[in-house]
Amino acid sequence: MREALRERVFRVAARAKTLVYHMFFAVYAVFILTLLVGSIALVGDLPWSGQMYGLGVWSGRAAVTILAAVLVPGILGRFGIQIKVTRVITFYRRQLGITTFLLAFTHGMLVRWVARIALGQYPLSAAPLFEFFGTFALSLLFFLFVTSNDTSVKRLGPWWKRLHRTVYIIVWLVLFHTLLQRVSVWSALIGVVAVLEVVSLLYSRI
Ligand code: HEM
Repeated sequence: MREALRERVFRVAARAKTLVYHMFFAVYAVFILTLLVGSIALVGDLPWSGQMYGLGVWSGRAAVTILAAVLVPGILGRFGIQIKVTRVITFYRRQLGITTFLLAFTHGMLVRWVARIALGQYPLSAAPLFEFFGTFALSLLFFLFVTSNDTSVKRLGPWWKRLHRTVYIIVWLVLFHTLLQRVSVWSALIGVVAVLEVVSLLYSRI
């Protein structure tokens, strides 16, 4: 009887996992669609291009939030703290990482790069420093994004972990990207995570 119950729980969990994976794929598709529609609106200077720009800004904010959430289990783990809910984050870490990249990419494209490339607006020579931090963070995130799959884990071996440790640098780049604009809830959020990353790494070494 107990065995049957365990089997049933396992089957439900496996089914839920498949469902969640499908949901992530649907979310990725929505981001790509948003990027396409937003780009068309910006290039065509359509009446709702302002709203698409706003959506681009919120994509960046969502990316910061998910990036911070993905790093919480590691920080807590290094302090020896175990919280059940963080296990859910650990379980879907790969999908959340992909989500972070897609959000950050949509953000960067909609707030600057589409208009810069297609319309010649926001000349690179006049770009503020915070944009360089954002672009650098996004470039590094790209490498994590393309290696977030089983094949890369197998092929890269120990280098996979080393590569994915660049997330510690990305966090600081995102902090400077947001902080150089203004002190906000987003810079505070990523700032706390950046500092806790360093403190927890030192703590685990000591
Ligand atoms: C990992 C990559 C990135 C993340 C997580 C990110 C995050 C953010 C966040 C949270 C904000 C809002 C700050 C606030 O409300 O105080 C913001 C604003 C902004 N970001 Fe990014 N960003 C990233 C990359 C980029 C890139 C590649 C660009 C393009 C050059 C860019 C350009 C901008 C601009 C122009 C704003 C100001 C938008 C406005 O308020 O009108 N970001 N970013």
